[in-house]
Amino acid sequence: MKKIIIVSAIAVFMYACNNNTDKKETSSETNAVDLAKQDSLKKVNDARGIGKFTHVDIPEKLDAALAKGGSGIYDLKCSSCHKLTVEKLVGPGWKDVTKRRTPEWIMNFATNTDEMITNDAQAQAMLEECMVRMPNQNLSDDDARKVYEFMRKNDGVKQVSIKK
Ligand code: HEC
Repeated sequence: MKKIIIVSAIAVFMYACNNNTDKKETSSETNAVDLAKQDSLKKVNDARGIGKFTHVDIPEKLDAALAKGGSGIYDLKCSSCHKLTVEKLVGPGWKDVTKRRTPEWIMNFATNTDEMITNDAQAQAMLEECMVRMPNQNLSDDDARKVYEFMRKNDGVKQVSIKK
Protein backbone atom coordinates (compact mmCIF):
# COMPACT_ATOMS: atom_id res chain seq x y z
CA MET A 1 0.00 0.00 0.00
CA LYS A 2 2.78 2.36 0.89
CA LYS A 3 4.37 1.63 -2.46
CA ILE A 4 1.16 2.46 -4.30
CA ILE A 5 0.97 5.83 -2.63
CA ILE A 6 4.51 6.67 -3.59
CA VAL A 7 3.96 5.62 -7.19
CA SER A 8 0.76 7.67 -7.37
CA ALA A 9 2.59 10.71 -6.17
CA ILE A 10 5.15 10.30 -8.90
CA ALA A 11 2.42 9.84 -11.51
CA VAL A 12 0.83 13.13 -10.61
CA PHE A 13 4.13 14.89 -10.58
CA MET A 14 4.66 13.86 -14.17
CA TYR A 15 1.29 15.02 -15.40
CA ALA A 16 0.62 18.23 -13.64
CA CYS A 17 2.74 21.28 -13.91
CA ASN A 18 1.55 22.45 -10.57
CA ASN A 19 0.34 19.40 -8.77
CA ASN A 20 -0.07 21.06 -5.39
CA THR A 21 -3.42 22.43 -6.41
CA ASP A 22 -4.54 19.37 -8.30
CA LYS A 23 -4.96 16.21 -6.34
CA LYS A 24 -7.66 14.59 -8.43
CA GLU A 25 -5.29 12.29 -10.26
CA THR A 26 -3.48 11.05 -7.17
CA SER A 27 -5.94 8.80 -5.51
CA SER A 28 -6.80 5.96 -7.85
CA GLU A 29 -4.94 2.73 -7.50
CA THR A 30 -5.43 2.09 -11.19
CA ASN A 31 -3.25 5.07 -11.88
CA ALA A 32 -0.45 3.60 -9.81
CA VAL A 33 -0.76 0.23 -11.48
CA ASP A 34 -0.75 1.89 -14.90
CA LEU A 35 2.39 3.75 -14.14
CA ALA A 36 4.09 0.63 -12.93
CA LYS A 37 3.38 -0.91 -16.31
CA GLN A 38 4.44 2.26 -18.10
CA ASP A 39 1.03 2.24 -19.76
CA SER A 40 -0.03 5.61 -18.55
CA LEU A 41 2.91 7.13 -20.37
CA LYS A 42 2.01 5.61 -23.71
CA LYS A 43 -1.70 6.09 -23.80
CA VAL A 44 -1.93 9.81 -23.12
CA ASN A 45 -2.77 10.89 -26.63
CA ASP A 46 -2.04 10.58 -30.28
CA ALA A 47 -2.81 14.20 -31.10
CA ARG A 48 -0.59 15.87 -33.66
CA GLY A 49 -1.20 19.49 -32.76
CA ILE A 50 -1.50 22.40 -35.16
CA GLY A 51 1.20 23.27 -37.67
CA LYS A 52 3.12 22.03 -40.65
CA PHE A 53 4.18 18.70 -39.17
CA THR A 54 1.45 16.24 -40.09
CA HIS A 55 3.65 13.18 -40.42
CA VAL A 56 7.24 12.79 -39.24
CA ASP A 57 9.10 9.54 -39.84
CA ILE A 58 11.15 8.65 -36.80
CA PRO A 59 13.52 5.69 -37.14
CA GLU A 60 13.71 3.18 -34.34
CA LYS A 61 17.37 3.87 -33.56
CA LEU A 62 18.71 7.10 -32.20
CA ASP A 63 20.41 9.48 -34.62
CA ALA A 64 23.28 10.57 -32.39
CA ALA A 65 24.33 13.49 -34.59
CA LEU A 66 20.84 14.98 -34.57
CA ALA A 67 20.60 14.44 -30.82
CA LYS A 68 23.89 16.22 -30.30
CA GLY A 69 22.63 19.22 -32.27
CA GLY A 70 19.48 19.13 -30.18
CA SER A 71 21.49 19.12 -27.00
CA GLY A 72 23.18 22.37 -28.00
CA ILE A 73 19.83 23.99 -28.81
CA TYR A 74 18.45 22.78 -25.49
CA ASP A 75 21.33 24.32 -23.55
CA LEU A 76 20.94 27.61 -25.33
CA LYS A 77 17.19 28.04 -25.68
CA CYS A 78 15.26 25.60 -23.52
CA SER A 79 17.20 24.71 -20.37
CA SER A 80 16.25 27.92 -18.59
CA CYS A 81 12.67 26.64 -18.37
CA HIS A 82 12.80 22.86 -18.89
CA LYS A 83 14.65 20.26 -16.84
CA LEU A 84 15.49 16.84 -18.25
CA THR A 85 13.87 15.10 -15.29
CA VAL A 86 10.13 14.96 -14.49
CA GLU A 87 10.52 18.04 -12.37
CA LYS A 88 8.86 21.27 -13.39
CA LEU A 89 10.92 24.43 -13.71
CA VAL A 90 8.92 27.08 -15.58
CA GLY A 91 7.57 24.49 -18.00
CA PRO A 92 7.17 20.72 -17.55
CA GLY A 93 10.24 18.50 -17.19
CA TRP A 94 11.10 16.68 -20.39
CA LYS A 95 11.53 13.18 -19.00
CA ASP A 96 9.15 10.92 -20.96
CA VAL A 97 7.72 13.76 -23.02
CA THR A 98 8.29 11.62 -26.15
CA LYS A 99 6.08 8.96 -24.56
CA ARG A 100 3.34 11.42 -23.68
CA ARG A 101 3.29 13.23 -27.00
CA THR A 102 3.65 12.43 -30.69
CA PRO A 103 6.70 13.79 -32.56
CA GLU A 104 4.33 15.89 -34.67
CA TRP A 105 2.76 17.50 -31.60
CA ILE A 106 6.14 18.29 -30.05
CA MET A 107 7.61 19.70 -33.26
CA ASN A 108 4.50 21.74 -34.00
CA PHE A 109 4.53 23.07 -30.45
CA ALA A 110 8.21 23.98 -30.72
CA THR A 111 7.84 25.83 -34.04
CA ASN A 112 4.26 27.11 -33.86
CA THR A 113 4.02 27.84 -30.16
CA ASP A 114 1.66 30.80 -30.18
CA GLU A 115 -0.96 29.23 -32.39
CA MET A 116 -0.76 25.95 -30.49
CA ILE A 117 -1.25 27.61 -27.11
CA THR A 118 -4.17 29.62 -28.47
CA ASN A 119 -5.95 26.86 -30.39
CA ASP A 120 -4.76 23.38 -29.41
CA ALA A 121 -6.77 21.73 -26.65
CA GLN A 122 -3.81 19.89 -25.12
CA ALA A 123 -1.63 22.99 -25.11
CA GLN A 124 -4.42 24.97 -23.50
CA ALA A 125 -4.81 22.35 -20.79
CA MET A 126 -1.08 22.58 -20.13
CA LEU A 127 -1.26 26.37 -19.91
CA GLU A 128 -3.93 26.05 -17.25
CA GLU A 129 -1.56 23.87 -15.21
CA CYS A 130 1.55 25.93 -15.77
CA MET A 131 0.07 29.45 -15.73
CA VAL A 132 2.98 30.63 -17.89
CA ARG A 133 2.78 30.92 -21.65
CA MET A 134 5.84 29.53 -23.37
CA PRO A 135 7.40 32.25 -25.52
CA ASN A 136 8.03 31.41 -29.17
CA GLN A 137 11.65 30.25 -29.48
CA ASN A 138 12.04 30.84 -33.24
CA LEU A 139 13.17 27.32 -33.96
CA SER A 140 13.67 26.24 -37.56
CA ASP A 141 12.12 22.97 -38.69
CA ASP A 142 15.54 21.32 -38.57
CA ASP A 143 16.13 22.61 -35.05
CA ALA A 144 12.80 21.15 -33.96
CA ARG A 145 13.77 17.77 -35.36
CA LYS A 146 17.14 17.93 -33.56
CA VAL A 147 15.54 18.83 -30.25
CA TYR A 148 13.07 16.00 -30.70
CA GLU A 149 15.95 13.56 -31.18
CA PHE A 150 17.62 14.92 -28.06
CA MET A 151 14.37 14.33 -26.16
CA ARG A 152 14.34 10.73 -27.44
CA LYS A 153 17.88 10.27 -26.17
CA ASN A 154 16.83 11.68 -22.82
CA ASP A 155 14.02 9.11 -22.82
CA GLY A 156 16.43 6.23 -23.30
CA VAL A 157 16.36 5.58 -27.07
CA LYS A 158 19.66 3.98 -28.13
CA GLN A 159 21.76 3.84 -31.26
CA VAL A 160 21.51 0.05 -31.40
CA SER A 161 18.23 -1.45 -32.44
CA ILE A 162 16.35 -3.63 -30.00
CA LYS A 163 15.05 -6.16 -32.48
CA LYS A 164 15.42 -6.98 -36.19
C1 HEC B 1 10.56 31.05 -20.81
C2 HEC B 1 10.35 29.65 -20.51
C3 HEC B 1 10.42 28.61 -21.60
C4 HEC B 1 11.42 28.40 -22.53
C5 HEC B 1 12.70 29.19 -22.74
C6 HEC B 1 11.03 27.21 -23.26
N1 HEC B 1 9.83 26.74 -22.81
FE1 HEC B 1 8.84 25.09 -23.48
N2 HEC B 1 7.36 25.42 -22.15
C7 HEC B 1 7.31 26.47 -21.26
C8 HEC B 1 6.04 26.43 -20.54
C9 HEC B 1 5.58 27.41 -19.49
C10 HEC B 1 5.36 25.30 -21.02
C11 HEC B 1 3.98 24.83 -20.62
C12 HEC B 1 3.04 25.15 -21.73
C13 HEC B 1 2.48 26.50 -21.79
O1 HEC B 1 1.48 26.70 -21.17
O2 HEC B 1 3.02 27.37 -22.49
C14 HEC B 1 6.23 24.67 -22.02
C15 HEC B 1 5.93 23.49 -22.68
C16 HEC B 1 6.73 22.88 -23.62
C17 HEC B 1 6.48 21.61 -24.25
C18 HEC B 1 5.34 20.64 -23.92
C19 HEC B 1 5.85 19.81 -22.76
C20 HEC B 1 4.94 18.70 -22.33
O3 HEC B 1 5.17 18.15 -21.25
O4 HEC B 1 4.01 18.36 -23.05
C21 HEC B 1 7.47 21.40 -25.15
C22 HEC B 1 7.62 20.20 -26.07
C23 HEC B 1 8.35 22.54 -25.09
N3 HEC B 1 7.88 23.41 -24.13
C24 HEC B 1 9.46 22.69 -25.86
C25 HEC B 1 10.38 23.72 -25.72
C26 HEC B 1 11.58 23.83 -26.51
C27 HEC B 1 11.97 22.89 -27.63
C28 HEC B 1 12.26 24.92 -26.05
C29 HEC B 1 13.58 25.47 -26.51
C30 HEC B 1 13.76 25.64 -27.93
C31 HEC B 1 11.45 25.52 -24.98
N4 HEC B 1 10.33 24.74 -24.80
C32 HEC B 1 11.78 26.65 -24.27
C33 HEC B 1 8.26 27.43 -21.06
C34 HEC B 1 9.42 27.57 -21.79
